[in-house]
Amino acid sequence: MSVIELFDTTNWHNPLNADDQQRAVKAIENGKVLYFPNLSFYLDEAETFLLDPQILMKGAKNISYDYRQPQLKGAVCQADAAHSLQELMHRFFNFSQQLVDHVLPYYHSNTCFARTSFRPAEIEGRVTSYKKDDTRLHVDAFPATPNQGTRILRVFSNVSPVGKPRIWRVGEPFEAVAKRFLPQIKKPFPGARWALHKLGLTKSYRTLYDHYMLQIHDKMKADLTYQKTANQEKIEFAAESTWMVMTDHVSHAAMSGQHLLEQTIHLPISGMKYPELSPFRIVERLTSPQ
Ligand code: SIN
Ligand code: FE
Repeated sequence: MSVIELFDTTNWHNPLNADDQQRAVKAIENGKVLYFPNLSFYLDEAETFLLDPQILMKGAKNISYDYRQPQLKGAVCQADAAHSLQELMHRFFNFSQQLVDHVLPYYHSNTCFARTSFRPAEIEGRVTSYKKDDTRLHVDAFPATPNQGTRILRVFSNVSPVGKPRIWRVGEPFEAVAKRFLPQIKKPFPGARWALHKLGLTKSYRTLYDHYMLQIHDKMKADLTYQKTANQEKIEFAAESTWMVMTDHVSHAAMSGQHLLEQTIHLPISGMKYPELSPFRIVERLTSPQ
């Protein structure tokens, strides 16, 4: 059974029909990737110069945009190029907003849109520490930004101008990942997470759930045997396609590709249709005394 749930829609201006909306919410909460091979986010001809990876600040792997500020981070370019890029990223934010509303209207009043990201560099061959290496299977969990159980929903569009697919590996279901790695994880040191917060090293308090998720993330990436032998599927996301996935739940690795736009959306567990499928509930169930 594939991890891909296909939708043939070609535009983001109209809602999906009611059956497809049901199929979408069920699939995404069960850890599937909603794939829209015929849905493209287009750049204008005059914007294509922004695709040059030189626009990335040294050492940065993406440029991020926050529509609430609004500001760009990680770009080095002239003011007019920065202005064009900001407009492009804002348009992608609007595109994602409409798409989420039309595909997953169940979430409407509970979504919180966060950063937009532009990734103009080729992934393959990039050198980083293993914890930052997204070519290794992982679930998303970030050391400085605990999410305390809130879901991470992401919209991606491959905007390659030369037809290059983005290649991912998608691993086993979250429950299998958690069952494998949780037994290796120690409880945190008393007071450590409180200190991290007080020192400003985490944006909010790292809950026990965040501790487990971060450890699962790190242990998955550190285990090279697991990387090779875990059940997995290779997926090619074609140029000019779009997909949506809950990356805190779906084990994923980005192997190659260039030119991606991504929008992060947060969703509280209470806004889910099937909250018992959330990583939070799964971790809670697997770590509570029998
Ligand atoms: C990731 O979320 O791990 C990377 C996804 C991508 O850049 O394709
Ligand atoms: Fe990731």
